[in-house]
Amino acid sequence: MRQLISNDIYYVGASDRKISLFENYIPLNYGVSYNSYLILDEKTCLLDTVDESKSTYFFKKVAETLNDRELDYLVVLHMEPDHCALINELLLRYPNTKVISNSQVFKMIKQFFNLDIKNQIVVKEGDTIKLGKHELKFIAAPMVHWPEVMFCYDTYSKTLFSADAFGSFGALSGNLFYDEVKDDNYFNEARRYYTNIVGKYGANVCNVYNKIKDLDIKMIMPLHSYLWRKDFNLLIDKYLKWATYTPEDKEVVIIYASMYGNTEEVACRLADILANKGLKNIKVYDCSKVDETVLIAEIFRVSHIVLASPTYNLAIYPKMHSLLQGLINLGVKNRTFALIENGTWAANSNKLISEELSKLKNTTIISNKVSIKSSYNVCDEQSLENLASSLVEDMKKEA
Ligand code: FEO
Repeated sequence: MRQLISNDIYYVGASDRKISLFENYIPLNYGVSYNSYLILDEKTCLLDTVDESKSTYFFKKVAETLNDRELDYLVVLHMEPDHCALINELLLRYPNTKVISNSQVFKMIKQFFNLDIKNQIVVKEGDTIKLGKHELKFIAAPMVHWPEVMFCYDTYSKTLFSADAFGSFGALSGNLFYDEVKDDNYFNEARRYYTNIVGKYGANVCNVYNKIKDLDIKMIMPLHSYLWRKDFNLLIDKYLKWATYTPEDKEVVIIYASMYGNTEEVACRLADILANKGLKNIKVYDCSKVDETVLIAEIFRVSHIVLASPTYNLAIYPKMHSLLQGLINLGVKNRTFALIENGTWAANSNKLISEELSKLKNTTIISNKVSIKSSYNVCDEQSLENLASSLVEDMKKEA
């Protein structure tokens, strides 16, 4: 069966509900789609392939959609294996296909597949390829999130093929466009996808946005998740916030590590005090229970983050330390942190966490820090109250 999107552009991608870990470390609760598009014009042109796990279904869809026509072109926008894995197999099945991409892609094809493409067309920024009515214009999108990435704009259908940008986790269930579904969880998963995969490269996202912002775009077709044909502002507004590390919500997230429940109690008491002071939508997370990719997405979302950690082997509790390394690696900035430590004989995690946070740009640490000895005691009440007051005051300051 052919799956027509619009203007002779067909969907030949596939959804994967079996995969449990994306890139073998990011948990997927709702699967993922690998999008691939086939344009049937005077020339036929496939844009990217799919993950190897979906090979059988993909090649059936390509053959059904081509309906005995030759495949003239394969455009490669991104060389990560969830999209490029079937290039070799495709060229065995369609040996006359010309591959269109940039020089870095051809180098990577050699690296991945030990394959020298004979029928290749090397393009660069601004080059165009005419398929008939459709004309593809190439836009370099380096480090969004790999160096070889390109976008491609079809001047006929006014479609932006955006590689991994504007994608998300989540399998597709027949409906291809975001406006055809009620998916309340979409932006949580889109944020988790962006922040953990593309999050480090905000400046590069801003650069490519400046190249596309004046294009007349009627559709956006990413390599993962829904396609877009309306309400682009919903998506673009989020992307610009994420890319500039601007908090979406002036809210507090409390992330604690706790071996025996004592630090957890302090974190929960702080949440209660903040609620009494009128703060809404406070979130409390156990960093040993909630996946780090969720915590990173939450830290991108909010303005204020409380980290509560025991001292462990005179260092930071391992799960908390891992989260901090994640934030540093992604270049998170523009946030306010508050700290709580717990230690039975040598509490040291506030100092060590402060040192880690000092590696993040434009980050403030609330000066009132709380230090607990083994467990919460009534004498800790005042320092917790002071921390809560400072947080509330700081949030007003930014209003
Ligand atoms: Fe969906 Fe960067 O691969």
